[in-house]
Amino acid sequence: MDLARSVAGIEFTDAKRQLIESRLAKRLRQLDIGMDAYAERAIKDPAEQEILFNALTTNHTAWLREPAHFDDFSRRVLPHLATGGRNRLRLWCAAASTGEEPYSIALTIARFAGDSLSRWDTAVLCTDLSTKALTAARSGLYTSERIAPLVEADRRLALEPADGPPVTSWKVKPVLRNLLHFARLNLMDEWPMKGPFDVIFCRNVMIYFSRETQERLVNRMAGLLAPGGTLYVGHSESLSAIRHPLQARGPAIYVRNE
Ligand SMILES: C[S@@+](CC[C@H](N)C(=O)[O-])C[C@H]1O[C@@H](n2cnc3c(N)ncnc32)[C@H](O)[C@@H]1O
Repeated sequence: MDLARSVAGIEFTDAKRQLIESRLAKRLRQLDIGMDAYAERAIKDPAEQEILFNALTTNHTAWLREPAHFDDFSRRVLPHLATGGRNRLRLWCAAASTGEEPYSIALTIARFAGDSLSRWDTAVLCTDLSTKALTAARSGLYTSERIAPLVEADRRLALEPADGPPVTSWKVKPVLRNLLHFARLNLMDEWPMKGPFDVIFCRNVMIYFSRETQERLVNRMAGLLAPGGTLYVGHSESLSAIRHPLQARGPAIYVRNE
């Protein structure tokens, strides 16, 4: 638990502790060792840390989750970036999980740009701590159940059948997939990218961190935003209790001054 806190910033309540122990139990049985011996091993062995974080992280996500953010991105941010034919977007999705969030971002861009998508200079960096989640994200494969939040027009724009008939799984179309670049990044580590970003999505990951870690993280992100840039956080992650230089712009929407 201490290792998870110091390396990944993840805090555990008593309720979560039980969940974690049950998730780790399988690995302990495989190795036939106890928790203390396991902690010692994981501290020394980066490969074991990867297995540990894959087991510890909660990857719950969904297509177009918290849709107000995609509306704001489409109605306020993208038109601003398109002004004067500039059509340039630098975006960071900081907890990309299994890909539903970044592909929803790509879908929103494609829907907005229409036939002009090829005239956009777009770079969307998608990072996560979990290599397991990133492997799923890179595959771009989703069951019919997972894509249920999409209306038919969005489904047609974003996905093509991966099997069937009858179709039970779907693959993200290259036109969306090519907008995204996936990489592993622990938010607690140094960040190799310099920015500036027009938009950062960092949603539903800070709830696992302490208030101090959240404050440090939000201030680091604010420093990477372009003037006028937008930070989206999860709807249950209000930044009202922490000090930061951003202006609230809507529910869980924060903007850096121009
Ligand atoms: C609950 S999911 C949220 C996914 C997506 N942002 C959304 O809102 O639907 C949280 C994600 O944060 C990732 N995560 C947890 N700790 C992290 C850390 N220290 N650095 C980077 N990602 C982390 C997990 O692997 C997981 O994929």
